[in-house]
Amino acid sequence: MQNLDQIIRQASADFSAADDPDALEQIKARYLGKSGQITGLLKGMAKLSPEERKTAGLTINRAKEAIETALNGRRETLRRQALETRLAEESIDVTLPGRKECRGGLHPVTRSLERIETLFRSIGFEVAEGPEIEADFQNFTALNMPEGHPARSMHDTFYLLDEKGNAVEDVLLRTHTSPIQVRYMQAHVEKYGHLETMPDIRIIAPGRVYRVDSDATHSPMFHQVEGLWIGEDVSMSDLKGICADFLRRFFESDDLKVRFRPSFFPFTEPSAEIDVAFMSGALKGRWLEIAGCGMVHPNVLRHVRIDPEKYTGFAFGMGMDRLTMLRYGVDDLRLFFDGDLRFLSQFV
Ligand code: PHE
Repeated sequence: MQNLDQIIRQASADFSAADDPDALEQIKARYLGKSGQITGLLKGMAKLSPEERKTAGLTINRAKEAIETALNGRRETLRRQALETRLAEESIDVTLPGRKECRGGLHPVTRSLERIETLFRSIGFEVAEGPEIEADFQNFTALNMPEGHPARSMHDTFYLLDEKGNAVEDVLLRTHTSPIQVRYMQAHVEKYGHLETMPDIRIIAPGRVYRVDSDATHSPMFHQVEGLWIGEDVSMSDLKGICADFLRRFFESDDLKVRFRPSFFPFTEPSAEIDVAFMSGALKGRWLEIAGCGMVHPNVLRHVRIDPEKYTGFAFGMGMDRLTMLRYGVDDLRLFFDGDLRFLSQFV
């Protein structure tokens, strides 16, 4: 069986030459596969006498085992080599500089909004919302600005166009948050109108509004927050008290003067403009306009089927961007909407 030793040596050499697992398995077939050399020898034993078969079987099987041992050895070597290569590739370079975690933050106007909501919730106001694409009725007509009313032209309104470029009738981008008053009152009447006495309406309504206007203090999109309180004997002094108190808490300053200056809005009567003046800091002593307000006009109540003989109420609309600019000392409104991280990251 000189031949067998040779086969074993040849197999071991062939295995060692295989440098990947696939190649190794191919070579294995040459010896141990269906038509491999060892398999051939085992088959050949059929021709031998029983005596010869015994010894031949023993030696061939021993050779087979030797080849299998060599094969397994090589398999193990290749496996270890592959693992080592992978580990080397995936090793971590601890000398690389770390990746900085980027921290996000809330937009300054969002911070104001959250502050306003918290303060008004604390005195029993709910937060209401309405659509930014609004109907002419809620934005104007119900607010005592019928078609052709001169006050309409003071709102530089964005209208919507159809494919032919014609204005879509009765649809516009809301020019203020006041239509949310209308929608809320309509829903309230639907829900409670059958009652002898309706529960009070006490809401603030923040949101984006749109006007064709753009400079350092005007942006075509800006933010307002509406306030509305309707009840059986809500008065102008409630309006003054709540607004003045809110402003002192919003700016965290008792050193703040608040004044109500007579004004005009079609949907309030009487109407006023709210001005504030800080008693210290860069803006010391300057009156700054921050809101419009007044007692809800009886015509507005009639439009939403609330009896103006029984219910009264006040409304206000504050410029949320303006409040934010004053609170943080920002002098250009456009900074809020440019998306410049050098500006925004100061608020993180
Ligand atoms: N809607 C008015 C505006 O934009 C503000 C306002 C709201 C005035 C409520 C009175 C009452 O400009």
